Amino acid sequence: MISPHDASSASSQPIIEADDVFRTFEIGTSKIEVLKGVSLTIQRGEKVFLFGASGAGKTSLLYTLAGLERPTKGRVLIDGSSLYQQSRREQARVRNRRMGYVFQNYSLLPELTALENVLVPAMIGGNPDQKRAEHLLDHVGLGSRAGHLPAELSGGEQQRVAIARALMNDPEMIFADEPTGNLDSKTGAGVMDLLLNLVAEQQRTLLVVTHDRSLAQAGDRRLELADGRLLS
Ligand SMILES: Nc1ncnc2c1ncn2[C@@H]1O[C@H](COP(=O)(O)OP(=O)(O)OP(=O)(O)O)[C@@H](O)[C@H]1O
Ligand SMILES: [Mg+2]
Repeated sequence: MISPHDASSASSQPIIEADDVFRTFEIGTSKIEVLKGVSLTIQRGEKVFLFGASGAGKTSLLYTLAGLERPTKGRVLIDGSSLYQQSRREQARVRNRRMGYVFQNYSLLPELTALENVLVPAMIGGNPDQKRAEHLLDHVGLGSRAGHLPAELSGGEQQRVAIARALMNDPEMIFADEPTGNLDSKTGAGVMDLLLNLVAEQQRTLLVVTHDRSLAQAGDRRLELADGRLLS
């Protein structure tokens, strides 16, 4: 049994922390400093929206927090342990079991059906639960399109497949990079609502990059990145 006291302390428990994170790219002799000392804490169950101009470093920060891009300097902590100091195998396990991704351009595999795309994270994890994949497709309103290839789906439908795929392994953390970027505003609002509702049902932690401030009203917190730093 969880006592009321335990429940309240659990809600303010950091799940993702960035500790003075730097990210530098070297191209030839020139150096681009994309992240210049970013520190932040995201609590378990928080829904955080990340804004910033094009090129501000939003994707870099999202990827760094999500275990996909090692910082040049600084640490990323997941539940207090330093992600990039773990073995590659353990990092892969954290990404597959605990994190879900919605990429900017859907990134569905073109030769696989909607259902097979949703199953990919579960195949990597060694537990391809077809019933769950079907249930998730139903949940995003695409139950009748399970056998369709991405090219046979609209942009909004592909994005909903990508959301179902992100949820396949029931991850605690979901990272979404402009999940509505290529959609018209009505479809975009529908996709964002869907994501927020699915996440809220399960008390998952959500980090979303978006340009659309009107879509971010439902979040708990908004962060803004400018010139490689978070504005406070
Ligand atoms: N692999 C790379 N090599 C060199 N430079 C890179 C690399 N990845 C990103 N950059 C540079 O880092 C900067 C930030 O890129 P990032 O993709 O994080 O921006 P963003 O805020 O997501 O922009 P957008 O809103 O356009 O998606 C850009 O100037 C970009 O050119
Ligand atoms: Mg980006």
